[in-house]
Amino acid sequence: MPLNLIIGAQWGDEGKGRVTDLLAEDADVVARFSGGDNAGHSVTVGDQLFKLHLIPSGIIQSGTICCMGSGMVINPKKLIEEMDRLEELGIDVSPARVHISGAAHVITPAHILLDGAKELQRGEEQIGTTKRGIGPAYTDKTARSGIRFEAMLDPEKIAQKMSAHLTQASLLLENVYAYETPAIEESVQTYLRYAERLRPYITEVGSFVAEALSNGQNVLAEGAQGTLLDLDHGTYPFVTSSHPTTAGALLGLGVGPAHLGRIIGVTKAFQTRVGEGPFPTELSGKLADQLRGSGENPWDEFGTTTGRPRRVGWLDGVLLRYAQRVNGFTELAITKLDILSGFNAIRFCKAYSAESKTFETLPAGPADLAPYEPVFETLDGWDENITSARKWSDLPAQAQAYIEHLEAFTGLPVSIISVGPERDQVIRRA
Ligand code: IMP
Repeated sequence: MPLNLIIGAQWGDEGKGRVTDLLAEDADVVARFSGGDNAGHSVTVGDQLFKLHLIPSGIIQSGTICCMGSGMVINPKKLIEEMDRLEELGIDVSPARVHISGAAHVITPAHILLDGAKELQRGEEQIGTTKRGIGPAYTDKTARSGIRFEAMLDPEKIAQKMSAHLTQASLLLENVYAYETPAIEESVQTYLRYAERLRPYITEVGSFVAEALSNGQNVLAEGAQGTLLDLDHGTYPFVTSSHPTTAGALLGLGVGPAHLGRIIGVTKAFQTRVGEGPFPTELSGKLADQLRGSGENPWDEFGTTTGRPRRVGWLDGVLLRYAQRVNGFTELAITKLDILSGFNAIRFCKAYSAESKTFETLPAGPADLAPYEPVFETLDGWDENITSARKWSDLPAQAQAYIEHLEAFTGLPVSIISVGPERDQVIRRA
């Protein structure tokens, strides 16, 4: 049975949690493979809004087993808090349902302090990180000095590793950044308590997923962040420190491509970004306010993790084609189409221009987008509220034309269209 992937095609916040929740209905296993609690996935079921940062959104569908793969960096404190919250809501988060890879890396208080310290030091060149310790944890992983969850299986080992890590990190924090270091012994004791709680959850996720696939089970990999934040293929250096792409899914789960099935690129019907970095189709003023929303609704464009207002703009087809190339999408899921209701005209970036040349695909990687001006085309908007549309024929002709335009532009079918935050506010075409 297939390994289906849900991958962000933009700068994150595309609505992957919502698409995961939908497809998790038919999944046996749902797995996160990259990032940490910098992600914020919202799923609305009835009058309950679930905000998940670490545990896959598939946890809300009761028949699934949820895994956190080796490509993740996990703050144990946040994970335990998330488990407790889900438990209060009556969701089973027992070790039979939740697996943590022993090869996933542990985020420590020193990583969080270092994230803030490094951002401060960057001054004008700030990345605008979520300050969750993500970059420093991956830095330690790459430097081969990180702490893996498997160390938590042995109290002596985790105590020794935490103590060595904090001693080393304190040298950096105190001498380079003039920061106060977390109390070492206290932190060690806290992590020993976390280890006690999380020990039953730690397993070999790679072999678990591989076995599920060979047993004919349906595995869904839930991406976090988005392609344009990929460490190698994003708008470097304004990226995260992991690989939220198709290749990252295989790497961060520990399985090969043989079972790959659907690779669903999730994109909003427009474009958003949090944090710094290039954004060729960015809008300001009234149009931006209209796209962003006031912040009164949980689905308005304010960060789930940080609450920061998101930057907004028209959909960038050049970057969408780029994401398609990097990931090999088999189809697209378009989210938040309902937000475009009420716009007289919808603009779509079909190409970039630079030095009187036009580019329909990116001539180089997306790290330097400054030389390019977006070339827009204008499509008719619609006035109708489409939040109660449940089938293709419920959509106004202009909304259908917009979707068909995206299909023609990318050569990909649009299999899912979401028209509101509720679980049932969706049009499925596959
Ligand atoms: P970090 O992942 O906290 O290091 O942040 C690096 C960049 O990625 C910043 O621009 C963040 O705003 C952005 N980022 C990280 N996670 C997310 C996410 O889940 N959604 C949107 N942007 C994100």
